[in-house]
Amino acid sequence: MELETREKELLGKIDHRRIPGHVAMIMDGNGRWAQERGLPRSAGHRQGVETVRETVRFCNYLGIKALTLFAFSTENWRRPAREVNYLMSLPGQYLQTELPELVKNNVRVQLLGERNRLPAQVLRAIDEGLSATAGNSGMTLSFALNYGARREITRAVEALIGDLQLKGGKVSVSEDLLASYLYTAGLPDPDLLIRTGGEYRISNFLLWQLAYSELWFTPVYWPDFSRLHLLGAIADFQQRERRYGRISQK
Ligand code: IPE
Ligand code: IPE
Ligand code: MG
Repeated sequence: MELETREKELLGKIDHRRIPGHVAMIMDGNGRWAQERGLPRSAGHRQGVETVRETVRFCNYLGIKALTLFAFSTENWRRPAREVNYLMSLPGQYLQTELPELVKNNVRVQLLGERNRLPAQVLRAIDEGLSATAGNSGMTLSFALNYGARREITRAVEALIGDLQLKGGKVSVSEDLLASYLYTAGLPDPDLLIRTGGEYRISNFLLWQLAYSELWFTPVYWPDFSRLHLLGAIADFQQRERRYGRISQK
């Protein structure tokens, strides 16, 4: 990968033994990016796909084991139909051009979210991505599409109750057992959450999984989010002391 001088400098300052294993991103600010340029919101989403391409490549290059991208929330259906339709065309577009490279780079694609309500063409594209990369053992790239954390937890509880009823009798429910019913079963919790676009909220993303993640917010709009920003976030992450309730070791 061709890196610029500043990128190489920052990369040199990062501790490569402590790269966050799982990075989750709330890709926000596409609409405002476009509006500030007098463009339709769709132009921001289109540019946002370019950022996704670059980000996936760079995370893979950095050796990040799991990258989870919030692409469409259960609340985003409230947007005008035109915008929703445009957003729904993007996973297919992205995968169509990127799939060969993802396969080559040993990336495994995964969907987090409810399949029903997703248009058939999105499911087709995603399923093609899933099956083409199912055997891959490198970075896990999860797209949160039609994803809402409360929905995820509610479904998990529903499924768990169903299974417990089958077993009958009294069964204790551990945190790990409940987590195994979430879309993210098998994925470690995010070490680092990045939100672009300047909002300081979680917007119903990974409520369970973010319990002890380090949070990093930036006003930069997603289409402008660059390798330098990501390196900055990782450098910041490496300065933090993750105490998990214990007292400081410093
Ligand atoms: C993020 O950008 C993309 C999605 C939520 C699908 P937005 O479209 O939310 O952009 P802003 O927040 O309106 O600028
Ligand atoms: C969060 O962004 C969802 C995604 C990035 C897909 P939103 O733009 O929908 O968040 P809110 O509604 O402003 O909190
Ligand atoms: Mg937004």
